[in-house]
Amino acid sequence: MKNSNIEKFLRVDQDKAPAPYEVPAFQGMLKLDANESPYKISTNTLTNILQELGKVNLNRYPDPSYSDIRQILSQRWEYPPNQILLGNGSDELIQAIIIAFGGSGKTVFTPTPSFAMYPIIADILGENREDIPLTENFDLNLSEALQSRMFNSTQPGNIIFLAIPNNPTGNCYSKSAVKEIVENFHGIVCIDEAYFDFAESNYLHLLPEHPNLIILRTVSKIGLAGIRMGALLADKSIIETMRRVKLPYNINILSEAVARYVLSTKKGFESKIKQIIDNRFWLYEQMKQIEGIQVYPSQANFLLFRVSEQMAQLVYNRLLEEGILIRSFGNQGRLAGHFRVTIGTKEECSYFLNKFKKILENYS
Ligand SMILES: Cc1ncc(COP(=O)(O)O)c(C=O)c1O
Repeated sequence: MKNSNIEKFLRVDQDKAPAPYEVPAFQGMLKLDANESPYKISTNTLTNILQELGKVNLNRYPDPSYSDIRQILSQRWEYPPNQILLGNGSDELIQAIIIAFGGSGKTVFTPTPSFAMYPIIADILGENREDIPLTENFDLNLSEALQSRMFNSTQPGNIIFLAIPNNPTGNCYSKSAVKEIVENFHGIVCIDEAYFDFAESNYLHLLPEHPNLIILRTVSKIGLAGIRMGALLADKSIIETMRRVKLPYNINILSEAVARYVLSTKKGFESKIKQIIDNRFWLYEQMKQIEGIQVYPSQANFLLFRVSEQMAQLVYNRLLEEGILIRSFGNQGRLAGHFRVTIGTKEECSYFLNKFKKILENYS
C-alpha cells in the first residue's frame, strides 16, 4: 500500500479521537501532579519483596483468577472474594466496563469536570457520550439530571461514572443525589472510589441491594501506583458478565507477587494514609489564608485551587523552574486558572507552599 494515511483507519473519526496520553517530563522534579503517594516502600520491605520475586516462575503465566490477591483484598475491604475482579489499574477496568456494557444506542454519562479517562476511553471506543455539568460547588445537579436523558432515556443499559471523591475537584457528591442515581438510573452505575482511603465515607454498603452498581478501587493512591492494580467490586452477575470481556493474565506475575506480599503484610499503609490526610488538612488551612486565591476542601489526596487567570501560566512556569510539578487545567473552560496539587510529605507540602507564596508575592 502506497501513500497510506494510517490515521484514517482509526476506529473513530480523527476529530473525535483523543490525543495520545502524555505526561510532562518529571525527572528530578518534586512530583505533585499525579496523585501518587509520596511515601516509598521501606528498604526492609523491598528486601523481602526481592526474596518473593526470586520465587516467581517467569516462564509461567500468572494464576488467571488471581485468587490470592482477591482473598487479601476481600479481607481488607470485607467484601466476598468471588465478587472482586482485578484489572491492570482501574483504567483497564473502566475500559472493560465500557466494552462490556456500552455499544450501539447506549450513552456513557460523564460528570464534568471529572476524571479525564472516562471521556477519553468512551471516545476512542466510539461511544455516544454525554457530559453532565456539575454545579458551582462541583456537586451533581439532581433537578437538572431528573429532566435530562440521564433519567429519561428509553434505552436501558446506559453507563454513568461517578468518581467519589471526585478528581480533580476533591469533593464527594451529596449522598441523596448519589442514592437517587443508583436507585433510578436505567443501566450501570460505576462509583469510582480511587480516593476512598482518604475520605470520610464510601458506598460499599450499597452493593448488596443494587445489582447494577459497580465500585472501582485501586492500590495506586496508597503507594503502589507502579504495579498497576485496580479492583472492581460488584454483584456476581456483573462479575460473570465482565469475565467474558476481561483479558486473561491482565496483571503480570511480578505485580501479583509484589501485591501478595505487600498487601498481606499490611503494615505501613494505614499510618501513611493518616499522614496524608493530616498533611492535606494542614496545607488546606495554610492555603486558605493566602489572599487572592481560592482553595477547595478535599476528601482525597490532593487539593484543587484557583489563581487569577492572568497569573495562572506564570505560576505554573515559575513552579516548574523551582522544580515543582503540579497539574494545570489550562486557560480555557470551567477549570481555567485552576491547579491540582498532590499532597506530599509534610516537607514537600511546606516546600511547595513557600515557593508558591513567594511567586504570588513577587508577581502580584
Ligand atoms: C478517579 C480515578 N479513577 C481511576 C484512576 C486510575 O487509577 P489506576 O492507577 O488504578 O488506573 C484515577 C487516577 O488518577 C482516578 O483519579
